[in-house]
Amino acid sequence: MNLLLLIITLVVVGTKTSALCPNNPSDWCSNINSAKSCDVVKQCWDNVWSQRNQREKKDKSDLVEFTLYYETLCPDCMEFMSSQILHAFLTVKEIMNLTLVPYGNANEIWRNETKLWQFSCQHGPDECWGNLLHTCVMYYKPKTDDHLPFILCMEGNKVDDIQTAASKCGAQYSIDVDKIESDCIYNRLGNGLQHNMAVKTDSLNPPHKYVPWITVNGKHTEEIQKRAEKDLVGLICETYQGTNKPEVCGKENTDRKCFKN
Ligand SMILES: *[C@@H]1O[C@H](CO)[C@@H](O)[C@H](O)[C@H]1NC(C)=O
Ligand SMILES: *[C@@H]1O[C@H](CO)[C@@H](O)[C@H](O)[C@H]1NC(C)=O
Repeated sequence: MNLLLLIITLVVVGTKTSALCPNNPSDWCSNINSAKSCDVVKQCWDNVWSQRNQREKKDKSDLVEFTLYYETLCPDCMEFMSSQILHAFLTVKEIMNLTLVPYGNANEIWRNETKLWQFSCQHGPDECWGNLLHTCVMYYKPKTDDHLPFILCMEGNKVDDIQTAASKCGAQYSIDVDKIESDCIYNRLGNGLQHNMAVKTDSLNPPHKYVPWITVNGKHTEEIQKRAEKDLVGLICETYQGTNKPEVCGKENTDRKCFKN
């Protein structure tokens, strides 16, 4: 069923592209002409242009840049996201710039016949679908506040299959998974966006050896990684050099331990 839909989508989309459509999907909504040539005018209106006015401009140059490279069905990623990332988001989100890169140990090859990337994922097609869903949700909802609760909800669901988890979390956080599926996942848009995730992951230096894999201000060491897995809030607090240190940073770790009475 999904495969059939994919094939139909690719045929339809394949006939509509023109020479003007920018290669990088991030540029598709940059102006009306490129949106037209990529046949995504409605998507740009719904998801990008109508929201542009609400964007805030502040100097946030001292934020800690934290990037998580992960794949949707890897158990350790699910664990890390449900514990450390969730806790950090709830306590120190104002001093960090969290970037998620859902690709992990996947591979891609360019298909000349379809002019599309073909992805293969460590935990199979469901994982590729989940990675793409996260990528698309972040494209439509670029603010962490708007996409992270949904993504963490999915990663915290260890009982349902990924499609069920997605619809349950979608209902909870007003994410229309069916619409995203047709507008992005099974579509040239999603394909290009997911390729960007592959490029980000494959350009890591040092290259990642496992996931979850983290960088802090662009840097990865085993020491940073271990610290993040044990106490991400502490790591973010320590790294932060700005003047708005949240209260939780001044405290010892005691409030996160469960002491015996
Ligand atoms: C957060 O990081 C992304 C890159 O991952 C960057 O494009 C964006 O400008 C950063 N945001 C802030 C507020 O620093
Ligand atoms: C890919 O297709 C183009 C024409 O669309 C052709 O010129 C090129 O040689 C092909 N490349 C490969 C590797 O088959």
